[in-house]
Amino acid sequence: MSPGNTKQFSQIAIVGVGQVGGAAAYALILGSVASELLLVDVKVDLRDGQVRDLSDVAYSVNGGTRVRAATHHEAGQCDIVVITAGSRWSIGETNIQHMHRNVSIMRSVVGAMRPFRSDAIVLVVSNPVDLLTSIAQEISGLPKSQVLGSGTFLDSVRLRGLLADKTGVAASSIQVPVVGVHGDSQVVVWSAATINGMPINKSLPPDTLQHADLADECKNRSESIIRAKGATPFGISSVVSSICSSILLDRGDVEPISHFQPEFGCCFSLPVILGRKGIIRVIGVPLDSHEQADITQSAKRLRDVVERIQK
Ligand code: NAI
Ligand code: 2OP
Repeated sequence: MSPGNTKQFSQIAIVGVGQVGGAAAYALILGSVASELLLVDVKVDLRDGQVRDLSDVAYSVNGGTRVRAATHHEAGQCDIVVITAGSRWSIGETNIQHMHRNVSIMRSVVGAMRPFRSDAIVLVVSNPVDLLTSIAQEISGLPKSQVLGSGTFLDSVRLRGLLADKTGVAASSIQVPVVGVHGDSQVVVWSAATINGMPINKSLPPDTLQHADLADECKNRSESIIRAKGATPFGISSVVSSICSSILLDRGDVEPISHFQPEFGCCFSLPVILGRKGIIRVIGVPLDSHEQADITQSAKRLRDVVERIQK
């Protein structure tokens, strides 16, 4: 494998190779993240077409990744299983309808992969991501630290980009955690936002940043993309590639990732250290009283939904 310090044979399975799964595979091949990519989908023609198309990419970049079709059971034996199976939210569909459709897909996908290899890491991407991460954790039989969700990682990337466009500061020099439940109730931790380690509010001229407008723009970004093109595959595919590299290379990167919150009994995002064993440790983030109250409220709402679904 080209990048990096890992020459070990590694396998990543992608379960659900529609728009997001296909784009994630593309990003993983370009980054030479794994030795082998196993593609799984209930639509066999689609799966086999993706295998051929993505194999062309693999041979074109000569990055050493082999792409092949696989079953759900084989996917459960990989180093990392990325779950992108499900259905997209369609305009006009209620959140409840969308949620029930994807909960039953998640149950069937995780059930078909059991028993998992004991050190497998499951990365849930399908929406609603925090709820589905909670469901996957419950039925996978794996330790909770090995089942995670992409959560608000993408939202943090989006907000960094919006701030970079607005201020002219490179996105890589901006840190602004978005945490909580991905979607309408996600929370921007403005109190911890920095430019190169300096508090953001003190680093920029007054009134440069309208916090509420920027948080709303970040929250509404997926809907604006879906209205324009039907899906949001590219942003998340780059996030998936980054999470998989962090895990396989045991890099210790800190990112907001959805994981089990014992205090609330469900999954949502706070910054964590990522490594080969999944969630290595949670990093404390200083929340002000409003941020804490918002997170508590949305976590309780999510816990109620998880409990209703479990009954
Ligand atoms: P899509 O409809 O293009 O692809 C979904 C694929 O899952 C289809 O090919 C379908 O056949 C497959 N599938 C369904 N049931 C399956 C099963 N039991 N086993 C294997 N495959 C199965 O949808 P798209 O656009 O790829 O989105 C996938 C999911 O990713 C959606 O839930 C979407 O909301 C979510 N998403 C999450 C993001 C995040 O930040 N967490 C960002 C973008 C999308
Ligand atoms: C996104 O944020 C739809 O959750 C998806 O792009």
